[in-house]
Amino acid sequence: MNKLVTILNGPNLNLLGKRQPEIYGHETLDDVAKAAAALGAELGLRTELKQSNHEGGLVEMIHAARDTSAAIIINPGAYTHTSVAILDALHTFDGPVFEVHISNVHKRENFRHHSYVSLRADGVLAGFGTEGYLLALRRAATLLRD
Ligand code: DQA
Repeated sequence: MNKLVTILNGPNLNLLGKRQPEIYGHETLDDVAKAAAALGAELGLRTELKQSNHEGGLVEMIHAARDTSAAIIINPGAYTHTSVAILDALHTFDGPVFEVHISNVHKRENFRHHSYVSLRADGVLAGFGTEGYLLALRRAATLLRD
């Protein structure tokens, strides 16, 4: 059976496509889920995309991925910049972890320049729009193949 890659999304990303489209674009999270599933099929991977507005919810999704998933792609939203709990949860996961930001956080406010999650991430993509999720999926495929 193909390996599973879990794509996690933090707060406010349920509103992707409607929320500040000048920053985050017009694609929805559902569009991202469909594009990831299609690319995953080409790469021989299964994908699941989940979203929570709650820090604890994201922690529990990471715990669940320990038993089911070979890699995690995570856009933790604002929790990127605040959450030691999400960092600690990611430290319990053995496979590759990729951090994705739709916008280029380094071009934005200072408080977005620091990421707790980067202390665990094997790769970080920022400013590639929703394509960042797909680029991370390609990298996951490479690492999981080796
Ligand atoms: C984000 C960047 C974060 O700073 C912000 O809080 C988000 C989205 C991004 O995808 O660009 O919610 O992670």
